[in-house]
Amino acid sequence: MHVYSEVNPTAVNGAYSQESARRTAARACRSERRAPPRGGSEALPLGGGPPHRGRLPPAIAAGRGGDHAAAAGQAEAPPPAPRPRSHGRLLRLCPQRGYREAAFWRNALSVPISIPPPLEVVLEKRAAEPGRAFQNWHHTGSWCLDGLILGAFASETEDGPCQFTKAGEAFNSCLSGKLKELLAISGPPLKKGKTRIFHGLHQDFSSVIVVGLGKKGAGVNKHENWNEDKENIRTAVAVGCRQFQDLEVPCVEVDPCGDAQAAAEGAILGLFDYDELKTKKKPKVEVQLHKSGGIEAQDEDLWKKGCIYADGQNLARSLMEGPANYITPTRFAAIIKEELGKAAAQSGKVTVHTRDKSWIEAQKMGSFFSVAKGSDEPPVFLEIHYQGSNDASEPPLIFVGKGITFDSGGISIKPSANMDAMRADMGGAATISSAIVTAVKLKLPLNMIGLTPLCENMPSGRANKPGDVVTAMNGKTIQVDNTDAEGRLVLADALFYAHSFKPRAIVDAATLTGAMVTALGSAATGVFTNSCQLWNQLYEASIVTGDRVWRMPLFEHYTKQVTDCQLADVNNVGKYKSGGACTAAAFLKEFVTISNWAHLDIAGVMDNIDEVPYLRKGMAGRPTRTLVEFATRLSQDKKSI
Ligand code: BES
Ligand code: ZN
Ligand code: ZN
Repeated sequence: MHVYSEVNPTAVNGAYSQESARRTAARACRSERRAPPRGGSEALPLGGGPPHRGRLPPAIAAGRGGDHAAAAGQAEAPPPAPRPRSHGRLLRLCPQRGYREAAFWRNALSVPISIPPPLEVVLEKRAAEPGRAFQNWHHTGSWCLDGLILGAFASETEDGPCQFTKAGEAFNSCLSGKLKELLAISGPPLKKGKTRIFHGLHQDFSSVIVVGLGKKGAGVNKHENWNEDKENIRTAVAVGCRQFQDLEVPCVEVDPCGDAQAAAEGAILGLFDYDELKTKKKPKVEVQLHKSGGIEAQDEDLWKKGCIYADGQNLARSLMEGPANYITPTRFAAIIKEELGKAAAQSGKVTVHTRDKSWIEAQKMGSFFSVAKGSDEPPVFLEIHYQGSNDASEPPLIFVGKGITFDSGGISIKPSANMDAMRADMGGAATISSAIVTAVKLKLPLNMIGLTPLCENMPSGRANKPGDVVTAMNGKTIQVDNTDAEGRLVLADALFYAHSFKPRAIVDAATLTGAMVTALGSAATGVFTNSCQLWNQLYEASIVTGDRVWRMPLFEHYTKQVTDCQLADVNNVGKYKSGGACTAAAFLKEFVTISNWAHLDIAGVMDNIDEVPYLRKGMAGRPTRTLVEFATRLSQDKKSI
């Protein structure tokens, strides 16, 4: 077989020419170990217009491959209302009609189509290497199996045609406008978050997925408290990437869609799936920035930043999702230490202390230890120091995270239904530690300290009993009326200890109360703070990340309900049933003297069913990106706090 090509497709457009050369080189690199191409090419360009012209490939002449030639495949459901019959559909439905229809289709629309190898060849290869054959094919032919995601904005007018992004426009003109034609004839205008897939359009990409970005320039939605453009890009790119993953496309190029950071976040967050403990994994998809179509100078940096932000959240997700018999306090500390080691790359800016039981006791952290002693699993107090500022004496930003690696409730044991979710009760520790790992990777110029009291909350002969009184590090006595309100007990000592570093601000995160789940659900993290500046910074950060926060009260009203206590200075549960998230915050306030403190109750955002469309079902790792964005802002503004 020969490659019948009179026009070099990559010569059609200058940008594409350069890009294609880069891609060809990259592909050659990736396929160093591959077998030499067999007698010509399996990609048989079909004539009829740029970029591929040539003679009829035998597979088509023999009536095969007709459905490969069908360029459009609907990914939307339900299908559009009855429309005039299209030849594209006819061809797809009747592949056996073969060349006559293929030629008609091609001529009618001058669609440049490249035909993959005959089905038998593909099947033969699949059989030779089950499971990996698709990738194998990728490495043995000149037809490239890379995928391309391109964005399309909704029309300004109702039901008008979509408007491509810069990269989409460039790709479309490289194909002499065929992508636009195909998009128009393949269904109604593409809706926000929906996709449409086209196969065989360009030799560099087996398939192109066009993703709907909604209205262009939507900006910050003042009612929703987030940047709608960014959210739309995250969602659309995530959906496109997952579609390629289902098709086992190993390498996907992503249109920056005007915001390369959001695009990278959508891709990496969208593809994350916790399959570490499964034998059969989802196919790996490598994502990279699509550089054709005149990308902006900063796009590459923004793409990298987005990857780092998303990797940070994914680290928190994997720690939270991991089972409690794997992610013990000891293992948690070891993973974070390892991640920090990789992030810091021997810069000497990171120090990690894995404090053990004897240290905890020596510090007189009686509140934390009262919870830890109920379990056979040894507790750890993890202390991370990052000196990002050139000035070592600059007051640090301190993150504190609740690190209950499993919360059974203790003697006040929880109902067994859904108790497994309490493996993620270290979500505070996971998000704040991952945020610090991310800050290190970003080389943020500020000093940070991370403090995570890590232990299990279990019922045992040594566990706290309702009515017990314990003494916290600050000398306050606490009546433990409910052993399931353990988060505040471990945080009390960590918060008090944080003050010893003379911090600039203390921000704690904790999956603290079921009441928080009831109050806000998964829409936003509840923030209780004694500082309007701190609130503003967190709020502004969350608008950008889309991982929202909502301010909650720290009224004296709630304080009274925890300090009115029969046996001790403070009770670990409120006097009344209502306002549980607020009484928990009021309890924590008893251990805080600094004027820049914020407590983030993240119980409601702990996991995701389908509320955040760019996160799969599972533990969410929220609000890691908001914490990172917040730290980034503080590193740039050393005055407001
Ligand atoms: N870890 C839970 C809170 C939680 C609930 C987190 C649901 C995520 C999802 C916490 O330790 C707890 O059990 N709190 C109790 C406190 C109560 C006994 C005062 C609660 O909220 O029910
Ligand atoms: Zn609990
Ligand atoms: Zn808990």
